[in-house]
Amino acid sequence: MAVPTETVYGLAADASSPEAVRRVFAAKGRPVDHPLIVHVASVDDLGRWVDEVPADVAVLAAAFWPGPLTLVLRRSRAVADEVTGGRDTVAVRVPAHPLLLAVLAELGPGAGLAAPSANRFGGVSPTTAAHVVADLDGRIDAVLDGGPCQVGVESTILDLGVSPPEVLRPGAVSAVALGSALGRSVGSWAGDGPARAPGMLASHYSPAARVVMVETIDGLADAVRAVGSSSPGGRVGLLGGLALSNTTVDALESALGSAGGTVLELEPAGDAEGFARVLYDRLRQADRLGLAVLVVVPPPAVGLGIAVRDRLARAATP
Ligand code: TXA
Ligand code: MG
Repeated sequence: MAVPTETVYGLAADASSPEAVRRVFAAKGRPVDHPLIVHVASVDDLGRWVDEVPADVAVLAAAFWPGPLTLVLRRSRAVADEVTGGRDTVAVRVPAHPLLLAVLAELGPGAGLAAPSANRFGGVSPTTAAHVVADLDGRIDAVLDGGPCQVGVESTILDLGVSPPEVLRPGAVSAVALGSALGRSVGSWAGDGPARAPGMLASHYSPAARVVMVETIDGLADAVRAVGSSSPGGRVGLLGGLALSNTTVDALESALGSAGGTVLELEPAGDAEGFARVLYDRLRQADRLGLAVLVVVPPPAVGLGIAVRDRLARAATP
């Protein structure tokens, strides 16, 4: 069953049931060595799934749970091997969505739901129940509709097994916020060396449309011109934090010039928080509109802007 969370919709299975977890992998078409996140109702439910709960966990739980923070900890025997991809660690979080918390409460004390994002492997994560249906209709039994996700990008993943702790995937809880809660520095994994978070691929969250990131409004015309010559006659979408003036759109139309394409301005995305909330819907919209290319001016690389840029970079990687 697909369930809402505050970040993105997840496809949930009892984390102690190998059979249920295998069905999740099959529905998504996800490689079996990409581990899943286990969702629990509260920090008090970690004991069943985690072997050793370091002191830092209480501090982070008090500051950020329920919320978009996932912790990588040493796993217990209760976790199905299918969840961890055979690793000796497990990723856990307490989600901040009343509907999912109600499901966990209904399942009883200690319940854990393993849930990856409820999309086909490699595609764009779902932030509404309609997105889930578009991706997985016929492959899953049900979607609990909890409305549009409030955060819009996946949780921050923090590895507490290294010193200093390291962010493996940026999200709404920033490394800076984690560091100040913990009272020590928190690093960010550079993405090099062996996969620390298997399944975090360079190319991910990819719509069919080509995604091109430009840093400034001034860079737009150049980007659109380049796009026009590579996709003659194509439709080009623009997505940024600010509405473009008619003059700018006219200038872009003429930059597309003899290529004969059209420029469509998608509804602007707002500040970093607003951008994160609509990001995946706009990537999906690019495909619904049959765009050849989506040109994006991303938010600055602070706070949630770091996560938005991370996902856009993956969406832009062919
Ligand atoms: O916000 C979220 O985290 C959403 C919602 C549904 O909770 N879930 C989500 O799941 O994004 P998924 O499967 O799309 O991404 C899980 C990520 C993967 O990149 C995986 O590599 C990492 O978590 N992960 C899971 N277990 C891990 C482990 N033991 N060590 C390191 N990384 C792990
Ligand atoms: Mg995913």
